[in-house]
Order: sequence, then structure tokens, then C-alpha cells
Amino acid sequence: VDNEEMYRPNFHFTPKKGWMNDPNGLFYYNGYYHLYFQHNPDDNKWGPMHWGHATSTDLITWKEQPIALYPDELGTIFSGSAVVDIDNTTGFSQKEKTPVVAMYTNHDMEAEKAGKIVDEVQSIAYSLDEGLTFTKYEGNPVVKNPGIPDFRDPKVDWDEERGQWVMVLAAGQEIKFYASKDLKDWELLSVFGEGIGNHDGVWECPDLFPLPVKGTDEQKWVLLVSINPGGPNTGSATQYFIGDFDGKTFKIDESFQKELEKEHRFWVDFGRDNYAGVTWSNARTADGSKLFIGWMSNWLYANVVPTEQWRSANTIARELSLIKGDDTYRLVSLPVKQLKNYRGKKVADTDISIAGKTVLTTTQTISLSQTEINFEIPNASIGKYTFSLSNSKGDALKFGYDTIENKFFVDRGQSGQTGFSEKFSDRIAKAPRLSNAKNWTGKIILDKTSIELFYDDGQTVMTEIFFPNAPFESLSLESDTDTFTLNKLEIHQLNFN
Ligand code: FRU
Repeated sequence: VDNEEMYRPNFHFTPKKGWMNDPNGLFYYNGYYHLYFQHNPDDNKWGPMHWGHATSTDLITWKEQPIALYPDELGTIFSGSAVVDIDNTTGFSQKEKTPVVAMYTNHDMEAEKAGKIVDEVQSIAYSLDEGLTFTKYEGNPVVKNPGIPDFRDPKVDWDEERGQWVMVLAAGQEIKFYASKDLKDWELLSVFGEGIGNHDGVWECPDLFPLPVKGTDEQKWVLLVSINPGGPNTGSATQYFIGDFDGKTFKIDESFQKELEKEHRFWVDFGRDNYAGVTWSNARTADGSKLFIGWMSNWLYANVVPTEQWRSANTIARELSLIKGDDTYRLVSLPVKQLKNYRGKKVADTDISIAGKTVLTTTQTISLSQTEINFEIPNASIGKYTFSLSNSKGDALKFGYDTIENKFFVDRGQSGQTGFSEKFSDRIAKAPRLSNAKNWTGKIILDKTSIELFYDDGQTVMTEIFFPNAPFESLSLESDTDTFTLNKLEIHQLNFN
């Protein structure tokens, strides 16, 4: 079996052929969720960027569509967003058709090659067939470059309260805020970022949106900022800030800033493989959560992972919501609820009391590469709990919770092919436990080459990829405490046909 078949995920989105990075242009309209993506259709490495396209009715099963945006005289097509222009503020509508407007960065590769440092401007294109094909606006670029080398990834949304379009843009290590009435004329409102958060790399792919604070009448604004490098476990990752937005300025929340300055633990995902994630426009869940998807790789090694025909997958789509703890606000994420619709065969145990080390082994009856596992361990308190996924080739992926460090971990050092990059498994990834709940709960989403860990109802998340020499077929859990109880262990096979 070649790597192609062996490593293509069972249910995470991958392009049929070619390279993929960031999700772009996420919008919902008329029953369809649209996902565009940074795409090099002609090679399995990053190169001249296009926007590939896929659609879904439930955010889980994706259908790839024809390429939506091709490079043009202003450059290749870098990351950006899309909105549904319901009120035809752009005047792009024809024959009553509602325009979908994409805003993206034109990256001039010729200028870059010629050594010019200023090579990025912002442009728009519109679609009158619900996102299938686009016409570039003749007035491009709509935002010229003021002399900044990294000036990209416009994320637009409708600011309900003020009745204006608001766009956030990454500029070096800052975020610039702009407003517009028609998506063509943009006014610079403010700048955010100096001296705040992590600055160990370039800021990229911002997103700005309000969220209700669970269990309160309060609303707060969330600013997502991807950074490369500078992630909590090396390489690329996405940090976030909580505050208020008055239509002009993003003001960081005081309690949030205080906690941030104590210790930066505000990452959408602490794993190494969730980058450049952003949210869908024109869509929310019934309880007001935003829908999010990330690129499931890391710039440290994305170009050399062992697949040939295609490279990179996306994370499972997630719901983002806000909670308020004793100290400050926190972003939590969980897989979208629609995933439940794919549950098939189930193995479940309740109240297993274990004396000794190994608790559970194998689940031969259930495939471990299209699986959802939910567990609860009461009073997890002493020592280390280690889950281990293994196969007949001696590969093992280990993950779990070290209660003494109060940290979660993922160790992919022996998980199969790792030698393609020395950065891939040079360390064990760790994440702080942020909840102080007595019981430790987790949701584990497994595909052939990825694990997504949602601990404590999504308060700490870790996403990591791996490339075993044969599918993982056995799962065990051990602890170095003498006895412990599992309140719940539920293994669901997910079926996708
Ligand atoms: C993030 C990023 C973006 C850019 C795109 C280019 O991964 O570097 O800033 O628009 O990728 O493909």
C-alpha cells in the first residue's frame, strides 16, 4: 500500500490532488457551508497559491469543487475571507442574485523574487452563483500597501451594531482594523498588538467576532491571531485575545490582560497541528457559537510529511464559545454537533474499577481510525495517566495527563514515520490543564493520521498528526497509581458511507 492510501484521512477534508494550507473564504449560504483553501494544484509543496473549494451541508462530509480563484496580474491568491452581501452594498448584484464577495491578498511573487519587500495588497472578487465562480473587481487592489512587508489575510464580517463591514488584517506583528460601507473603500480605524501576547513570529490570519459569555447576558469580542513561529509547542499556532470592540478599536479586557501577562495560556489549540483557523461568516449555532476550522499541519514540516499526491488535511469543524472562570474569560472548542450523526457501532463501559496498571486493551471490533471516544475519570489526582494507541509494527502514540505537572501531553516519538523532519517529534507536546474540575473528562477524535483531544469540555485542546506504519488497532490506558476508576468509557465508530 502506498502512503497515498494509507495516510489519506477517512473523514477530515483533504484535496484530491496537490498542496493545501489555510482555510479561506468560509461562508454559509442556502444550506451550504463553503470552504476555500490555500491550494497549489500542480505540486505537493507550497507554491503559486489558488483558492481551492469544497462544500458541505453539515460541516463533516465535504465535496471538492472546481478551483475558485486563480492567480492574476496582481499576483497569486493568498488567504482571505468571504461574506454574503445580502443588502447588495457592493452593487455587484445582477438579476436579483445575491453577491458573495471574497476578499483576499494578492501576493506578487515576481516582486518578491526581485527582492522588493512590499509585495502584498488586498483585493476583492464577487460570485453570483453562490460561490462557485468569481469575477475579480476591476478596481483592485482595494487596499494598497502602505510599505509593510507582511500585510495580508483580510477577514471581513458585518458589524451588526454599527451597520458597517469590518475587516481585520495582519500587518507584521500587529492587527489593523478597517471599516467600509461597500467592501471597496476601506478606512483604517485602529491598530492592535504592540507589546501584547506572543511576538515570536509573524502575525497571520486574524479573525474578529463577538460571542455570548455562557450563562450570562454578557457579550465579548474575540480576536484570533495565528503566529508563525511562536506556538506553545514550537512552530505555528493560534493565540487569542478577549476584549470589547466599539466599532473602531479593540480594547483588551483588563482581567484577560492580567492573566495573559502572568502566563500566556490563551491558545485555541495547544497541539502542533492546528493553524490559520478562522470562522464561518453568516452562520452560528443555535446557542450563538461560531463555527471554526483549522489547517491540520505546522509550517515546521508541512512540506515534507510522507504523502505524495496531496498534502495536508483540515481539523474537524469546531464550535467556539466563551466561558468565564474565576480569573477571566476563556475560549472553548468542541467538535460540531453534527459529528454525532455519524456514530455507528459502540462499545461502552461504566464504572470500571481497576486494580493494577493496564485498564483496557484492544477494541478489535471497532476501527480506531474513524472513532470518537468519550471518557471520564473521577478525582484524577495522583501520578500519570497514559493512553496508548498501538499497532502490530510496534508503533505507539501516547497521550494523557500528568497530574503532578498538571499538564496534558502527546508523545508521537514512536508513532511511526517521524524521520522526514527532525522538528516533527523532537519533543513531547504539552498543554496546561485549565479546568479545576474534580473529574477529568475528554473527547478523543481519531482518524488514520490525526488525533484531536478536547479535554474538560473543550477548555484545553490538542491536535496532532502522525504517520503509523500500519493502522493503530489497539488502545490501552494505564496509570502509575495503584487503583483508579473510569466513570465512563464510550468508543463510537464513525461511519461515513
Ligand atoms: C499562513 C499564511 C498566510 C498566507 C498564506 C500563504 O499559513 O502564511 O499568512 O496568506 O499562508 O499561503
